[in-house]
Amino acid sequence: MGFYWFREASDYSSEKKELEEALERYRFEKDIEYVYFNITEKCNANCPYCYVPEEKRKNGDSFTKEEFYDVLNKLSENNVNTVLFHGVEPLIEKNLIFEGIEDFPEFNYGIQTNGLQLEKDDIEYLKTKEVNFGVSLDAPKKKLNDYLRVNGHFENTLSILEEFKDYDTLNIITTINKFNEHLLVDMVKLLSEYTKTILMNPVRGTTEVGRRLRPNNLTENFLNAVERAMELTENGNKITIGDYANIVLGIIALTSRDLQCDISPCGAGRRFISITSNGIYPCTEFIGIEEFKTDLDKALNDDAFQDVISRKTEDIKECKNYEYRHLCGASCPAEVYESEETLNSKSPYCQFYKDIIDHAFKTIKQNRENLVINKENLSKTHEITKSLN
Ligand SMILES: C[S@@+](CC[C@H](N)C(=O)[O-])C[C@H]1O[C@@H](n2cnc3c(N)ncnc32)[C@H](O)[C@@H]1O
Ligand code: SF4
Ligand code: SF4
Repeated sequence: MGFYWFREASDYSSEKKELEEALERYRFEKDIEYVYFNITEKCNANCPYCYVPEEKRKNGDSFTKEEFYDVLNKLSENNVNTVLFHGVEPLIEKNLIFEGIEDFPEFNYGIQTNGLQLEKDDIEYLKTKEVNFGVSLDAPKKKLNDYLRVNGHFENTLSILEEFKDYDTLNIITTINKFNEHLLVDMVKLLSEYTKTILMNPVRGTTEVGRRLRPNNLTENFLNAVERAMELTENGNKITIGDYANIVLGIIALTSRDLQCDISPCGAGRRFISITSNGIYPCTEFIGIEEFKTDLDKALNDDAFQDVISRKTEDIKECKNYEYRHLCGASCPAEVYESEETLNSKSPYCQFYKDIIDHAFKTIKQNRENLVINKENLSKTHEITKSLN
């Protein structure tokens, strides 16, 4: 894995070509390594900001076993290695999922759930099969969390977290919106008792309600949470906000980022696809935007989703002259498309990204990046010694 500084500086001229080729491959190669599998379109909750259209969540279809197995066979033939059951609420079809896990051992599996239908036996099963487990929690207080999710969700999620405490691949997602943004610091403290990595994603305005719920003071609240996480880590209680770690990694080792959102073009339709019983989309955020729907063969093999997989910051007027445009990716194309009716417009979170990128440079300048990322997992290939001003 590459580990290098990547800056417009003369110091790296001897490595420039090699680095640019690596970057080109990383940005433009199509290799569908994993899929988000929506085994059902139904959900047993009704979170106000949810990007899945409400009509689908109420009356949507589920895969039959035969359809499900046909898709898994095709994914296996196409060397996809990971299947993530991401929606809409996967546990509604948990028996079918567990059968698939038994019959297709060639895949790595993950599940992202609201946890409402998770039972004790399911927890044991998922642990035995080493399934990556993700759960959503939006606030450190019952009243607000249950307002944003569904009644009973807070206590149920905490009892699940107790069961999964320190499970290697436990991931918790908090969706930041204008109701919970002031509680992110408390959220970090609470979640640090259960896991080492959390995601704090600003709500995507792919629906009108999503746009209304965007946070008002995101940079300050998010960076306070980042600082709190570093403080806890320094004191031995390791906790990382994945979204921030991805930006720091973007500066230090651009091509080793895991999260696919802040890359340009992003990973949608290129590194992964989103499978629903209605068709295939580049990413779950595109679900319901029918002009971005195709079938499985095309999504895996053809030049499907060309407009999404070729969307790059160089082509966006407002991004062209921003020197760190490779670190934010002007994400998210689905969100931009829904509000601007074009993919080639800047992100509504543009200023937020600029602010956290500046903060990431400061973190590195202060030699504190070890509190955010694990450099032991990287091997150093290049180093530019020019100081960062
Ligand atoms: C769509 S849900 C599907 C899995 C499961 N039902 C759950 O809630 O965890 C996956 C994740 O997307 C988040 N999400 C939903 N709508 C979103 C939006 N508009 N912007 C950002 N994240 C969103 C949810 O909070 C959840 O963490
Ligand atoms: S975020 Fe998850 S739990 Fe909430 S409505 Fe959407 S799919 Fe359901
Ligand atoms: S930026 Fe949007 S479309 Fe791209 S991977 Fe992230 S959520 Fe999906």
